[in-house]
Amino acid sequence: MIKILLTILLFASTGAWAAGSSAPKLDIGKGGQCVKDTQWMRKNHMHLLKHQRDEALRRGVRDAEISLKNCIECHASVQDDSVIAREDSFCVGCHKYEAVKLDCFECHSGTRKSAWLQQRNAK
Ligand code: HEC
Ligand code: HEC
Ligand code: HEC
Repeated sequence: MIKILLTILLFASTGAWAAGSSAPKLDIGKGGQCVKDTQWMRKNHMHLLKHQRDEALRRGVRDAEISLKNCIECHASVQDDSVIAREDSFCVGCHKYEAVKLDCFECHSGTRKSAWLQQRNAK
């Protein structure tokens, strides 16, 4: 039963943005596999992030996979290494469209700073 449900969710998530009439086309970033199912992430990423922040700040428990840095590692654009620089940048693009304020990047970096980037720039 769960398997069937997951399959339906996966199919439902494919191209969902393209189907939405005025939804922006987001620059999804580097690609790969999200930390959870896409459909689930769309609804629940904020809970994941806030939970992770509380864990880190209050209990000193860190989970590298769910750190903001890791999200940005994948979701920053391959053009400008940012999740916030442009209208279609991943985090900001969707938040603007949904009219949800996002103040995280007043403190946290919204750009990729990885070995991958350094390697690429060295070429
Ligand atoms: C290894 C790369 C990778 C990591 C790490 C990653 N993501 Fe993703 N994420 C993706 C990809 C690729 C998709 C798009 C999948 C698709 O379109 O089917 C996605 C989808 C999403 C979506 C849904 C987007 C939509 O169009 O509905 C959200 C929201 C999201 N990710 C947030 C996050 C957050 C928050 C984190 C950090 C906790 C994170 N992601 C970490 C690769 C990643
Ligand atoms: C597919 C669209 C979409 C993408 C992509 C997306 N978000 Fe969101 N985000 C939302 C929506 C919609 C809400 C509000 C949900 C609600 O209020 O129930 C939200 C809420 C949040 C919240 C909670 C805000 C608050 O004040 O409670 C945080 C934090 C957040 N997103 C962070 C991120 C980060 C970081 C990224 C990029 C890694 C990202 N989001 C990408 C749609 C998106
Ligand atoms: C006023 C500055 C400030 C703002 C605004 C802020 N943070 Fe943080 N955040 C911090 C500091 C400082 C830490 C602790 C850094 C550390 O010890 O790693 C932290 C830690 C975190 C962590 C745990 C470390 C990690 O990356 O795993 C997460 C997740 C996180 N914040 C998410 C968010 C999200 C999501 C938002 C927006 C809703 C946000 N923060 C807004 C300052 C801020």
